[in-house]
Amino acid sequence: MKGIRPLVAGNWKMNGLGASLGELSSLLERLNRDPVATDIMVCPPATLLSLAREVLMGSAVALGAQDCHPLPSGAHTGDLSAEMLADAGAEAIIVGHSERRADHGETDALVNAKAAAAHRAGLTAIICIGETEAERRGGATLDVVGRQLAGSVPPSAAAANIVIAYEPVWAIGTGLTPSADDVGQVHGFIRAGLKQRLGEAEGSDVRILYGGSVKPANASEFLSVAEVNGALVGGASLKASDFYGILSTYAETNA
Ligand code: 13P
Repeated sequence: MKGIRPLVAGNWKMNGLGASLGELSSLLERLNRDPVATDIMVCPPATLLSLAREVLMGSAVALGAQDCHPLPSGAHTGDLSAEMLADAGAEAIIVGHSERRADHGETDALVNAKAAAAHRAGLTAIICIGETEAERRGGATLDVVGRQLAGSVPPSAAAANIVIAYEPVWAIGTGLTPSADDVGQVHGFIRAGLKQRLGEAEGSDVRILYGGSVKPANASEFLSVAEVNGALVGGASLKASDFYGILSTYAETNA
């Protein structure tokens, strides 16, 4: 197996108030007692970035943001640029999440521009791709994932500044999950696409995360699949105990 260090990232989505920062403190306490052998990131809403940065300062938990505008500044009321998110403490930005593709009609071209914006600001782009239930039923999973991958990864991409998150839309927040075999097939396909796009060496080192109803009880099933280099976790990242339960799949003794 390759020596890619895994990443488990928590996407809080539109959840979390100031009081939720206590979960981060609890998580840090738990990690201090029982460290894990994986990179860890939490992506709270933008309103909490600065406060979360204070809590996470000096810890092993990195800070990420959710979404950005493609431009660095300008007359775009309510939007946030990658530079602003970097200024608030983010080291990465989730782009192209299926909820944004669905709620805001985001295209691959826009996702590509947002990922490039993250790079412009010196941040990692966590680029989400994944098929809908109808697309899976229609046998179009690899077509859709291949098209999204080709369209959403910007020219500035390299192993060190992108993470791909494969999130089947129908598995998000539903408790439904693909089989480990299905996940392995899609991740293998994404790996081949990355190698073709970035070259053998760079393409081999990009982290490919699985996301969609990852819980403590099923994490090891997915995280042990070939070419799965970690997870992007929604609901189960909101509670420190659940998130730690997933992180502990990478117990330090297994490193
Ligand atoms: P759930 O873990 O809640 O299914 O969400 C997954 C997700 O969309 C992470 O980005």
